[in-house]
Amino acid sequence: MEVIIEKGPEDVGRRTANMMADAILRNPSIVLGLPTGNSPLVVYKELIRKHKEGGLDFSKVISFNLDEYLGLPPTHPQSYHYFMASNLFDHINVDRSNVHVPSGLSIDPEGFCKSYEEDIKRHGGIALQLLGIGRDGHIAFNEPGSSLGSRTRVKTLTKETIDDNARFFKNADEVPRFAITMGVGAIMEAKKILLIATGKSKAQAIADAVEGPITQMNTASILQLHPDTVFILDEEAAGNLKRRDCYRWIQENKHQVNDVLSRQIKKRLGM
Ligand code: GLP
Repeated sequence: MEVIIEKGPEDVGRRTANMMADAILRNPSIVLGLPTGNSPLVVYKELIRKHKEGGLDFSKVISFNLDEYLGLPPTHPQSYHYFMASNLFDHINVDRSNVHVPSGLSIDPEGFCKSYEEDIKRHGGIALQLLGIGRDGHIAFNEPGSSLGSRTRVKTLTKETIDDNARFFKNADEVPRFAITMGVGAIMEAKKILLIATGKSKAQAIADAVEGPITQMNTASILQLHPDTVFILDEEAAGNLKRRDCYRWIQENKHQVNDVLSRQIKKRLGM
């Protein structure tokens, strides 16, 4: 697990978007896993900028979103379909037939969840998964207590998440109680994962996920077992990490590995 600490949210957005753009340039038909929420907005803004100003091409990119509220039509301003369209898809040259967001209106949610996972497999699996994190350490809608091996399914939202979301709805009763979400086990199958977090309210969830025990009470903590996960945090979100200085030191020195390798190669070649 790698931990990158940037100054503020905009820096987190730039760093993450650079990594994503790099992956898209290397593989133009990459399969991305995408989240919603406030945190990825800085990333999406930067990706849009890269498309408009630098010609970053999304025409072959395939994407699967993590989750959607059960019962909300795609036209509902609080649905994740609407969020993704207005904050990313409407502003880049993505082919809409390559974009997948779970359906909140399915009359057979279980069947839908199964076919969503099959669809991801048919596309070769998710190569790069972007994640946010909830204040209680949840990823996608895998609330505390979710099985760390869970698959894509319907999930009952916790009171904390419903309260967090209430600000987006006219009144608390309108906030959906259920969502379709990719499971923790399904997320763990992504080849590479970037988890972003900004702001003080995420500091404890991040400390628990990165340095705490692996537990279903903080579903992001399972990422400790993932072979290629990078946490990209701003200073506030990194505020409760005990080994902050160590992560910084590693980042500052990491690039020197190439110098060491090229010295070794030159020596071997007698240069
Ligand atoms: C929701 C989403 C998650 C997201 C979380 C945090 O629960 N399902 O994918 O990570 O909110 O969102 P924010 O970035 O707005 O704090």
